[in-house]
Amino acid sequence: MSETVDLVISGGTVVSPDASYPASVAIKNGLIHAVGAPEAMPPSREILDATGLHILPGAIDVHVHFRDPGYPQKEDFASGTAAAAFGGVTTVFDMPNTLPTVGTPEALADKHRIAAGKAYVDYGLYAVLGEDSIQHVGALIDGGIIGFKLYMGNTFGRIPSPSTGAMLEAFEVVAPTGKRISLHAETNSIMERREQRLRAAGRTEAIAHLDARPAVVAIEAVARAAILSEWTGARIHVLHISSAAELRPLAEAKARGVDITGETCPHYLLLSEKDYQKFGGVIRVNPPVRETANQLPLWTALLDGTIDIIATDHAPHAPDEKTRADIWTVDCGFSGVETQMPLMLTEVDRGRATIQDYVRWSAEKPAKIWGLYPRKGTLTVGSDADIAIVDLNREWTIDDAQIQSRSKISPWHGRQATALPIHTIVRGRFVMKHRTLQENARGSGRSVHAIQTMPPAAPRNTATTMAAITAPRAGAVR
Ligand code: DOR
Ligand code: ZN
Repeated sequence: MSETVDLVISGGTVVSPDASYPASVAIKNGLIHAVGAPEAMPPSREILDATGLHILPGAIDVHVHFRDPGYPQKEDFASGTAAAAFGGVTTVFDMPNTLPTVGTPEALADKHRIAAGKAYVDYGLYAVLGEDSIQHVGALIDGGIIGFKLYMGNTFGRIPSPSTGAMLEAFEVVAPTGKRISLHAETNSIMERREQRLRAAGRTEAIAHLDARPAVVAIEAVARAAILSEWTGARIHVLHISSAAELRPLAEAKARGVDITGETCPHYLLLSEKDYQKFGGVIRVNPPVRETANQLPLWTALLDGTIDIIATDHAPHAPDEKTRADIWTVDCGFSGVETQMPLMLTEVDRGRATIQDYVRWSAEKPAKIWGLYPRKGTLTVGSDADIAIVDLNREWTIDDAQIQSRSKISPWHGRQATALPIHTIVRGRFVMKHRTLQENARGSGRSVHAIQTMPPAAPRNTATTMAAITAPRAGAVR
């Protein structure tokens, strides 16, 4: 008689990065206990009938803004992680442009307290890497972070972008820690100058935002960051790749052996310049949604691995913050954590990619890139039971009024989808069941920093770092 488990999900189709196959999943003590034939499952306290549904590793969205503390009218950690739960997302990495900015150990400790009390899903916290926080790198790591975020350009929160000199020093300091630095790769001086000229010329309509930030803003930033990464050995991740032209510096850096990874977001794959007229300020996001010709190369780059993952840049704002007449006063970004999986699986249904590709981009690779694999990102015996159970034959229409996020305005409103997460499980516990939030799961999410294992660090050019050149040299005269 085999031991009793907590939950068996039976009758569904398990999806892994290699294959889809009919199988049941047994869960015990929050871990995957068995994956196999229904008749091989041990006795269970609970059985979930997943007939007709697909069982996916829960998505890991490495790029969300949950606004807590600071902007409760936009989102908080409870509403943001509830949105994640409804989107089949079982782990999120939250960005540091909250109030106060997460750039000190104190602000980090505060956010940990907030998140621990409210989270429905697991999370990692980013700390900002800027001129003022280089000195805190060690203490921030000790305080529990998933990685660093560096703003090469301004966006919501107006976190100052470090000079290239400060960026080099920051990379030197982070390189030996092995942590990955995620980059908002848009060069500030280019876009600020253009925005000033556009404003002076009286341009206030939505598309002026794209004119302020042509692709060169991002290309220049990606190339420069890759050079600094190559020099220092610091690991980097390029957030929200929006243009075809960024792919060249990314691919070239990868070919040189730079530890660089990249993400794109559904809005760069599915929206284009043509949508500015329709959505006005609602579509304003940094980097901007671009010309249609960028879409196909971004898809191709995902398929060939140049771009590693899908994330959302979930950037909730209140409706009045998104609908101002003058584009320069409209807050940038929109929600996405809840709609990413339905939108992407709808594209899978249309034949743009396979469902194997999708779980690689949404779960397996994010887990590998941030040292969480195989605890997260896979449905393997011994892994955390983080699971999205999805109906791939559900036709529905995205309705901003129905979403969990506090931000009830997005360019996804009215869009048709053919997939819907029905249940979401985090470490064996239902956080969303039959499309209903499991209120008792509030506060059950945990920070994943404790289970992170990055590969050994590989710092380079260590003899020329700022620390090395300023250290007293024993009697040396050069
Ligand atoms: O449009 C954006 N909004 N892009 C970002 O990088 C930040 C985000 C926000 O925090 O609102
Ligand atoms: Zn962002």
